[in-house]
Amino acid sequence: MTRTNTLRLLHSFFCLLFITCLPAGELRALDNGQAKTPPMGWNSWNKFACNVSEELIKQIADAMVSTGMKDAGYQYIVIDDCWQVDRDSQGNIIPDGKRFPSGIKALADYIHAKGLKFGIYSDAGTLTCQKRSGSRGYEFQDARQYAAWGVDYLKYDWCSTSTQNQQASYSIMRDALVKSGRPMVFSLCEWGSSKPWLWARDVGNLWRTTGDIQDCWDCQRDWGGMGFVHILDLQDGLESYAGPGHWNDPDMLEVGNGGMTTTEYRSHFSLWCILAAPLIAGNDIRSMSPEIAEILTNKEVIAVDQDQLGMQGRRVKREGELEVWARQLADGSRAVALLNRGTAESKISAKWSDIGYPDYLPASVRDLWAMKDLGKRTGSFSATVGSHGVVVVKIKP
Ligand code: GAL
Repeated sequence: MTRTNTLRLLHSFFCLLFITCLPAGELRALDNGQAKTPPMGWNSWNKFACNVSEELIKQIADAMVSTGMKDAGYQYIVIDDCWQVDRDSQGNIIPDGKRFPSGIKALADYIHAKGLKFGIYSDAGTLTCQKRSGSRGYEFQDARQYAAWGVDYLKYDWCSTSTQNQQASYSIMRDALVKSGRPMVFSLCEWGSSKPWLWARDVGNLWRTTGDIQDCWDCQRDWGGMGFVHILDLQDGLESYAGPGHWNDPDMLEVGNGGMTTTEYRSHFSLWCILAAPLIAGNDIRSMSPEIAEILTNKEVIAVDQDQLGMQGRRVKREGELEVWARQLADGSRAVALLNRGTAESKISAKWSDIGYPDYLPASVRDLWAMKDLGKRTGSFSATVGSHGVVVVKIKP
């Protein structure tokens, strides 16, 4: 008998004893009870990079509440790279004492007292991307420390990993977090390098699918960073891998950081909601304009992102620069985004057959940005969409 056959036989035997067994080879979903809908929150990186401090994070927590972001569903406040400086002789990670004089636990308590949750960042290699101490070899010690501090979310990066294997490395930290006894959202950030959508459902709650987002419509950096439309194009085809507890992550939001127009930011935000993407704001919410706040807190568009069915939308039609993206929602309706990537105002149509309805079906249409009912349509819906703009509707039979 070959080794594989012996293993199969053993598997069947144990399945007889434990009827909960899955067929051999089937991927289990990570069952940490987290991120049943895409996580919503704020992260320091896109706007502040290494310029993080306890003062900043506390002010952001205050602004989360005062701006209505918390009421709109944003929950996690995540400090990205640079909060840590070294390890002590016992191997414990040391936070930057100048920037975080009261310590990380006190900061977590402050955030929790506001009804928000607290996230932190580390790296699967020896060093983070900004050359701070990574978690390699310290996974269980770090996870225990995070739990003691009251961390609710870990973003785990992929710099300085040499020949490490993604799945193996991220699984170690997954196990360490489980062992810590504190439920934490686990956010994988290996930039899509090993196609994590194929394996990470069992390991993390979200996984980055691309290199870093840049605050621009369509720029491309030689080191791999890219603007909104390039990231969007790379999500096409990944939709079947997402679902409650395990999401594709097209990276954090750039909405409000100044490199795009308000129209472009509305498109960026809308498409992230169609994609069931994590909504992690990356701007300075303490001083954002009313137009930016209006984008980030539009409850009807956010409801699309947070829909309980958890089905990621996809591109259903592309005619040159004009695209239709659609997403099925739990109540049987469809959220549809008409996206104009061109330079001229254009008419875009979504046919019922594009979104999985029979042509004869009458359906009501609601414009989610205008928050206005547009009446009934049969067979198709069309709208004139400005350059780089979007019209998002909910179509309900
Ligand atoms: C990158 C990551 C960014 C940010 C940065 C910090 O690898 O993709 O989102 O975390 O590292 O150094």
